[in-house]
Amino acid sequence: MANHTAPITDAVAVILAAGRGSRMRSRTPKPLHRAAGMELIRFPVDLLAACGITRTVVVTGPDNADAIASVLDDRVTYAGQPEPKGTADAVACALAQLPEPPPLLVVMAGDTPLVRAESVRNLINEHTSVPGRRMTILSAPDVFADDLGRIERASVTSDGRVGAVSAIVEAASRPGFAHGPAEVNTGVYCFSGPWLAEHVGSITPAPSGELYLTALAARAADRGDDVAAIPIALADEAIGVNNREQLSAVETVLRDRINRHWMANGVTISDPATTYIDGDVSIGMDTVLLPGVILSGQTAIGEDCRIGPYSVIADSRIADRCRVAASFLEGAQLSSDVTVGPYSHLRPDASIGAGVHLGNFVEVKNSTLGSGTAAGHFCYLGDSSIGAGVNIGAGTVTCNYDGVDKHVTSIGDGAFIGSDTMLIAPVHVGAGAATGAGAVVTNDVPDARRAVGIPARLVPRKDKDRESN
Ligand code: UD1
Ligand code: CA
Repeated sequence: MANHTAPITDAVAVILAAGRGSRMRSRTPKPLHRAAGMELIRFPVDLLAACGITRTVVVTGPDNADAIASVLDDRVTYAGQPEPKGTADAVACALAQLPEPPPLLVVMAGDTPLVRAESVRNLINEHTSVPGRRMTILSAPDVFADDLGRIERASVTSDGRVGAVSAIVEAASRPGFAHGPAEVNTGVYCFSGPWLAEHVGSITPAPSGELYLTALAARAADRGDDVAAIPIALADEAIGVNNREQLSAVETVLRDRINRHWMANGVTISDPATTYIDGDVSIGMDTVLLPGVILSGQTAIGEDCRIGPYSVIADSRIADRCRVAASFLEGAQLSSDVTVGPYSHLRPDASIGAGVHLGNFVEVKNSTLGSGTAAGHFCYLGDSSIGAGVNIGAGTVTCNYDGVDKHVTSIGDGAFIGSDTMLIAPVHVGAGAATGAGAVVTNDVPDARRAVGIPARLVPRKDKDRESN
């Protein structure tokens, strides 16, 4: 959703993701936890790319390096931090990968998914517009967050201007600190590369033994090197994901941003509070989302659709003018003008042709339905290939499983499957053929013929084939 800007080729970005993430209390590495369906580590990578940065180094730890690489692949390069000795040590590990420090280094934590590209572009502009600037910190004013680093400034000047940055004070260094709003460190910084390379290796460890990158603010201030902090516009950008509660706070903010994005792009969302849209979803103009809709994973919805109320659509593609009510779709493909539900379940590789009608309690799995086919009432269609213009009667079951193997059912164009037909796969019902209500079809039915009974046998058709039988 971010706009891309001109590439900044003399900058390198570093994303810190080697921490243990122990506050998550999880077997899953923190960077792989998801918000709005996307792994947390994808957010800073997408953000920096949207800011025009062409080279990004991700610092990983021994426990999460493979997992992170499986998500990001070759979009970035990697630096390993053998032990999580602190954010300064992580940056040093990234610098060790570079032949020489670049003029501009953008450093950010891997666990702040709400930072917006606009804010980082402002940070870069501010940093690069001041000659001799060593460190510029993206801060957030008036935030109630006891676990973030707090920006200390020289006292407010007599004319009311806020004083210069003197330090970043970490939460661990201020026990008993009164709760209250403060200007806090978002964990996004610009550095002069050579200055950072000179100082990052000589930080005094905190009482915990950790090497804090944020100690560089006081280092710069004490030496008279130029350090500044610029506040972001939206306080929620500062939320970092250290625990599950913060993960859900991030999810809430993202959901609101995503819903507003789609409304601005011509999608009606009648109740945003109960509408959940993942970050990778796309939705066409004039589609209406009714209350209780969850669109997740790699889902694409066309134009003029009506989805909901109460539907879950995961990893599915839905073309224009479809209607889905109170149904569950996963890995399904719908052509245009399809109606589904209420209460139907489309499972992986359900491929539904144009104008198909699937009514209530219809389950479709690994099946292709041709255009104009209808299954209005409870039935199971699995491992089947069904032509166009087929009528599937209520209670029809493709009996695809013999207890050992799965078998295929095929039905030709224009066939009429009577109510409560059991199709014992592998079996074929020909084009224009018919089955009687309650038929158990164990043998193929030729084109245009009619089969009835248990097991089904061919009988003359009143309409078409009386003469030939
Ligand atoms: C850090 C900042 C804090 C800031 C906050 C913003 C420091 C010391 N503190 O605190 O000022 O307000 O981020 O969210 O930097 N990491 C490594 N290697 C390590 C340690 C951490 O790569 O040895 C990574 C983590 O995976 C994480 C990031 O650095 O992505 C920040 O570390 P974290 O422990 O979450 O720091 P915070 O306590 O949130
Ligand atoms: Ca953090």
